[in-house]
Amino acid sequence: MTNLELLEADQWFVDSPELKQFVATVQEISEQTRHNRSETVATLEPYFTALLAQQGWLPDQFAEPNPDSAMGGGIGQWLLYRAKDRSLTVFSLVIPPGSTTPVHDHLAWGLVGLYKGRQEETVYRRVDQGETEGHAKLEVVEVRQLKPGDIYYLLPPEGDIHAVKTTTRFAPSVSIHVLGNDTGCVLRNQYKPEQESVRSFRSGYSNAPCKEEKNHAQV
Ligand SMILES: [Fe+2]
Repeated sequence: MTNLELLEADQWFVDSPELKQFVATVQEISEQTRHNRSETVATLEPYFTALLAQQGWLPDQFAEPNPDSAMGGGIGQWLLYRAKDRSLTVFSLVIPPGSTTPVHDHLAWGLVGLYKGRQEETVYRRVDQGETEGHAKLEVVEVRQLKPGDIYYLLPPEGDIHAVKTTTRFAPSVSIHVLGNDTGCVLRNQYKPEQESVRSFRSGYSNAPCKEEKNHAQV
């Protein structure tokens, strides 16, 4: 758990029976398999495949780029659902044509599935021991071409560091993320492999603050 406060209730940003049903399934399976996250993602995969195949449940505004993106490149990170205890989030990531995410990690188990467009994903592995602050040496593990319906797992440290580029020429790519943390709000890492450097960052979400808004609270 991070030092961020818990929410007062689950947050829903999309009113969709398909998403509600899927999240209920994720809650149940992730609880039953909490001691084995490989089992969690493998058990969830067919349900996630079914959700990705049901085009229509994601409102258009959550499939739009965000010109004010904190991640740069017009990348939109739209929160769809966040659990009260911040142990589960579902969000869409919208990458305009020609844009690439920074190389980054997620620090939690997860499933990512392509909903629209095409992407190229470069997966890295960290090969230094983290003994020097700000320094990180990465190796490319794999470069994958992804089409709608394709799913990959995040099981840190396996598959947890990557960069994603949209390869469709005229339309953004939209991927759906199911993560076992509050990914947009936790402090995670951004890497520059050529410079062998790493720094902390918080990506935030395009449509939700990290701190809960209270009477005089800061956002
Ligand atoms: Fe990612």
